[in-house]
Amino acid sequence: MKLIHAIKELREELQRAEAAGKTVGLVPTMGALHAGHASLVARSVKENDVTVVSVFVNPTQFNDKEDLAKYPRTLEADCALLEKMGTTVVFAPSVEEIYPEPDTRVFSFAPLDTVMEGKYRPGHFNGVAQIVSKLFEMVCPDRAYFGEKDFQQLAIIRALVKQQGYAIDIVGCPIVREADGLALSSRNARLSVEERERALGISRTLFASREFAKEHSLVDTKVFVENAIAKADGLRLEYFEVVDGNTLQPVAAWDDADFIVGCITVFCGEVRLIDNIKYKEPGKEL
Ligand code: PAF
Repeated sequence: MKLIHAIKELREELQRAEAAGKTVGLVPTMGALHAGHASLVARSVKENDVTVVSVFVNPTQFNDKEDLAKYPRTLEADCALLEKMGTTVVFAPSVEEIYPEPDTRVFSFAPLDTVMEGKYRPGHFNGVAQIVSKLFEMVCPDRAYFGEKDFQQLAIIRALVKQQGYAIDIVGCPIVREADGLALSSRNARLSVEERERALGISRTLFASREFAKEHSLVDTKVFVENAIAKADGLRLEYFEVVDGNTLQPVAAWDDADFIVGCITVFCGEVRLIDNIKYKEPGKEL
């Protein structure tokens, strides 16, 4: 495994791989890797000759300076995990390497980026599109791997690929959860033991709502989730939206779409956690 910091070196390495006809998988990350990332890397290693994992805490996607400052940075441990998993290249550039000049590009994915995270974190998806488009153009992967935990991000990346005409297959991978249900997130590292216990209320509520949904309307299911989080100690709901899984627009009834997902963001103490649950998916019994 090679640890590369410079774009020039990355390009040279990948040109050799391309010349040898090798397929390339890219797993973009911000580091602080956990089993969720590992599932993306394992899939890329299985499906490609070469796997590039980028580790870069992208400043342009943070709309909160403190969140950026507190984001965990664990490159050494990340590299140890990635080496064991069969990663070919870890690309860990500096901010100056990626942004020698401010990135002034403005993307629009409306209406995908005007709801949920787009509404509560203005500019977030523009920053994500800036870094992901740069990585796509530097790495030119055949496939790129993203987790379904960031459900809205995945939809926006698919839209980015269409808009920019990238010949990249976007592979969405299922949420990885702890045995007790908590969705894995790099932010979980910032939870105290007590907060970690409280955060469980999020996935428990979502799972309970899927049972509730079998006998109740969509509107009542939404209220069920909102009330459960409001009653839970130490949790503060930012939003819970039940949306069409393709358009990300809110739906009012279970018959309004054949792909329906509940997306939630909750503050547990100061830590902002997101999760989601599928209520309906074409061809699947949920
Ligand atoms: O999902 C993430 O970790 C980030 O948003 C990504 C895709 C690596 C871009 O910085």
